[in-house]
Amino acid sequence: MEHRLEVNGQPKIEKMYQTILTELEKGTLVITINRPDKMNALNKDVITELGQAIDEVYRNDEIKSVIITGAGEKAFVAGADISEFIGLDAGAGAELAKKGQDLVFDKIENCPKPVVAAVNGFSLGGGCELAMACHFRLASANARFGQPEVNLGLIPGYGGTQRLTQLVGKGKAMEMIMSGDMVAADEAKAIGLVNHVVTLEELLPKTKEILQKIQLKAPVAVAKVIACVNEAAKSDPNGFNHEIDRFGACFTTEDMKEGTNAFIEKRKPVFKGK
Ligand code: COA
Repeated sequence: MEHRLEVNGQPKIEKMYQTILTELEKGTLVITINRPDKMNALNKDVITELGQAIDEVYRNDEIKSVIITGAGEKAFVAGADISEFIGLDAGAGAELAKKGQDLVFDKIENCPKPVVAAVNGFSLGGGCELAMACHFRLASANARFGQPEVNLGLIPGYGGTQRLTQLVGKGKAMEMIMSGDMVAADEAKAIGLVNHVVTLEELLPKTKEILQKIQLKAPVAVAKVIACVNEAAKSDPNGFNHEIDRFGACFTTEDMKEGTNAFIEKRKPVFKGK
C-alpha cells in the first residue's frame, strides 16, 4: 500500500510498513528502522521490510538516494534480534545470516544509487554491519560502534568480518571483533569508519545536504563509481580493467555530452540519468 501526498510542492511517498518508516523528499528516501523500545534490533520482519524497501529503491525512478537511520535518540540499530537466536542449529544460523546478506546487506552495497547511514546512537553487531553495507556513514556525537558478538559466543554474520576489515584495516578489525569493545563517534571517524561527526540535530540535515549535492551529478557516472569503488574495497583483481570499461561506457551517455558541453559553454549541467 502506498500513500502519495504533496508537501511544499515536493512529492512524498509513505509506504505502509510495520517495522520501518519511509519518507521520500526531494528525491531522498529516508528509511527509519522503527523499533525504539528494542533499540531498533533487526528481527526477521525488519530484514524482510528493509529488503522490500531496497527493492523499491532499485525500481522507483523518483528515488535518487537513500538515508538509513534509526528511530529515537539512543540507537541506530543494536544488532540482530538476539531473542530470535534461541534454539537455532548450524543450518538455521547460517540460513539467517545468508538471508540477511542476500536480501539486505549486499543489495544495499551494490545499489546503483547512493545509500548513506545516518548513525544516531548505538550501532552494534548487525547495526554496525548495516551501517558498513551503506556507501558511507555520518554519525551523531553520541554514536557508538561495535561488533560484540563474541560476548554471545558468536561471530558477525551480516558481513562484519569482511567490511570492518575493508574499512579500518586488519589490526583494528581484529581487536574490535575479538574484544567486542565499542568505539565512540570520534574514534570511529579517526579510524575511517565514519566520514563526519555532527550533533544529533544536525545528523539528518547534514546527510541530506551531502546527498542533494550528489544528486546534481550524473547518475549513471555515480552508479559506475559505486561499482568501481566496491570492487576496489574487495581487492577485485579486475577492478582496474572494469574501471577502463566503465570509463569508456560513460562516453555513450547523454549525461557525458551534457557535462562536457556545459563546461565548455560555462554553464551548469542538467543531467537526465541517461
Ligand atoms: N536484540 C534484542 N533485543 C535487544 C537488543 C538486541 N540486539 N538490543 C537491545 N534489546 C532490547 C533489550 O532486551 C531491552 O528490551 P526489554 O526492555 O524488553 O528488556 C531493550 O532493547 C532496551 O535495551 P537495554 O539493554 O535495556 O538498554 P541499555 O541502554 O541498558 O543498553 C545496549 C543498550 C545497546 C548497550 C544493550 O541493549 C545491548 O548490549 N544490546 C545488545 C547488543 C548486542 O550484543 N548486539 C549484537 C547482537 S548479535
